[in-house]
Amino acid sequence: MIGIIGSGNVGANTAFFLAEKGVDHIILYDIQEGMAKGKALDMMEAAPIRGYRTKIRGTDKAEDILDCNIVIITAGAVRKSGMKRDSLFQENKKIISAYASKITNPNTKVVIVSEPVDLLTTLFVQESNLLSSQVIGLGGVLDATRLRYLIAQELKVSMENVAAQVVGRHTDDMILLKDYCCVSGVSIDNFMPPEKINELLEQTRNAGALIVELAGRASAYYGPSAVAADLAEAICLNTGRLMSVSHALSGQFGISDVALSLPAIIGKDGISKTIEPALNSREVDILKKSAQLITQTMKEAK
Ligand code: 2OP
Repeated sequence: MIGIIGSGNVGANTAFFLAEKGVDHIILYDIQEGMAKGKALDMMEAAPIRGYRTKIRGTDKAEDILDCNIVIITAGAVRKSGMKRDSLFQENKKIISAYASKITNPNTKVVIVSEPVDLLTTLFVQESNLLSSQVIGLGGVLDATRLRYLIAQELKVSMENVAAQVVGRHTDDMILLKDYCCVSGVSIDNFMPPEKINELLEQTRNAGALIVELAGRASAYYGPSAVAADLAEAICLNTGRLMSVSHALSGQFGISDVALSLPAIIGKDGISKTIEPALNSREVDILKKSAQLITQTMKEAK
């Protein structure tokens, strides 16, 4: 069973994508009475045509989802035009603290979509009894997905042939690993000049903010929802997917107990292994500075 906290754009679309994939039964929760039930009913009424094998149920009671195998947290404020993700921390940390004390089932895996994801993932681990391997934030994998799209569009090739890798914070100082970007294993250096590559890297860095500017009233939700559904599927089906997700590190690059995105193997128990990509000294410096910033912010939040 997958529980989704928050039935706004991200939560509802995550439920929708999971139903389309037929991953598992879903309970959709929202604090606003009737909202989750209404959206769940609306989605299930599409089932006769879409052929859903799994069910989506809506609830107004948080206790209905706390024991789920996977709990996806999408609730909280979202960015408005001109805002940085970190400015959401003061408001959204209250939600995380509340659920960190309520989600106590030792088998539950928690997926954090709410922003700022690295700070909130760090906080959840600090305040929860779950293992850090069971608490996974959407970070680099969302940025890498966006970069895959941009490379495929530029080269007019199928997106399924494009791989990309982004690590570090899901903020403006994300680290886009150009050397890990390839088309069917062939480095993108073979397809486009450095200035075009850098242009796509910068577009990726600014992709979230651009969507906020264009939409005017909401931040991105189709991309985050698609990634959250993919992540939940990897856990449910124990696929061993390698995804750059935000998680509390355990000594990688000398960093511990701070959530940053590094490639990790995802399965039934959450993260089974963190993979250290080859980073140059500048990239290691950015990663360490990101960790210091998170540590500082967490100290100030106490
Ligand atoms: C994004 O990058 C919402 O932070 C998320 O769009």
